[in-house]
Amino acid sequence: MSSGSEIIVIGGGVIGLATAIELRLLGAQVTILSKDFKAAAGHAAAGMLAPQAEQIAPGTMHDLCLDSRELYPEWVRKIEAISGVDVGYWQCGILAPRYLSASGQDWLDTDSIHQQQSGLSESVVGGYWYPADGQVDNRALIRSLSSASQALGINLRDSVEVTAIHRNQGRVTHLETSQGDLTAQHYILATGAWSQQLLPIPLIPRKGQMLSVLVPNEQRDNLPLQQVLFGEEIYIVPRRDGKIIIGATSEDVGFAPSNTLKGVKQLMTNAMRLFPTLQQYPLLETWWGFRPATPDELPILGTSTEANLTLATGHYRNGILLAPITAKLIADLVWHQQADNLLAAFSWQRFDPG
Ligand code: FAD
Ligand code: GLY
Repeated sequence: MSSGSEIIVIGGGVIGLATAIELRLLGAQVTILSKDFKAAAGHAAAGMLAPQAEQIAPGTMHDLCLDSRELYPEWVRKIEAISGVDVGYWQCGILAPRYLSASGQDWLDTDSIHQQQSGLSESVVGGYWYPADGQVDNRALIRSLSSASQALGINLRDSVEVTAIHRNQGRVTHLETSQGDLTAQHYILATGAWSQQLLPIPLIPRKGQMLSVLVPNEQRDNLPLQQVLFGEEIYIVPRRDGKIIIGATSEDVGFAPSNTLKGVKQLMTNAMRLFPTLQQYPLLETWWGFRPATPDELPILGTSTEANLTLATGHYRNGILLAPITAKLIADLVWHQQADNLLAAFSWQRFDPG
């Protein structure tokens, strides 16, 4: 594809923004269409960069996640330099406390874990320590990516819904949108949990409810948590500014909006059990979001049935982590026609019975 060509990215979440920036840096003219920037799962996430704490099984997905975690420091430096907006990247490590004893390479026994983190529940008998996992402030990251997009001259259009992708003879001919028909030479689908509304791919929303609390002023100079706690059915993510993010439920309820009492109660109970100090902290905010989940919980990346439509969706629990590698792989594929070996495992064809 030559450098005067036009690419439309459908979806302005973390994946759409990151991919658009990578393509723009290669010389492409890029437009991003997004129904609602604020509805993106990237806004709702916790921002953990947690291939190990999430216990991704060894294999191609594990490799993809580790490669992306590796890319993070350099990638955020690049985005911050373009946007001037700090993303709160912090390789703070993730501690995974357990109520039942286990063993293994990363296992800490009872004494070691309570030494590593004071204030844990007395029922914690040990846990895993993953020093290379970390976090980014996902809302700051999205602000930073949006600012970088604007600084680079990407045409960022919010409140534009793509209502249909029109196709003919193996190519996308045009997009039908809430603001009229639009065409480009190439299209990238990055619509997260909403992808099945545009293409017949197996992907459903999996809802996650979240809440945050605030460390009181008098404890801010010496924050009680300086690493993520990834417990059983609960994680607790301390930000440097004293905010603590607590998540998350995992519910198959379609796009049902709102926090529920059941969801919030589950988060509060599990969080206070793991780290009782939280009981005293003021509640800041509650929210929810929709993870894009495929049947095998792996993303769908790469070519589609149409020659000028590329897929970048289905990142499920790890879209923040996977943004840098996705952007790189998809930009190389679309701009240089270079298909990295990693992509084969994430093709939509794995769901094609024919
Ligand atoms: P989204 O971020 O959802 O963005 C999709 C965008 O497409 C939206 O802006 C939407 O409005 C737009 N769109 C949809 N349909 C259309 C259309 N027809 N026309 C135009 N625009 C459209 N990941 C991690 O790595 N670490 C975490 O700690 C983490 N925590 C999470 C916690 C929760 C509660 C949730 C819900 C998710 C979490 N995730 C986490 C997962 C991560 O947020 C997602 O995988 C990631 O945000 C997916 O990015 P995306 O850009 O594909 O989709
Ligand atoms: N990765 C954390 C979540 O999806 O809840």
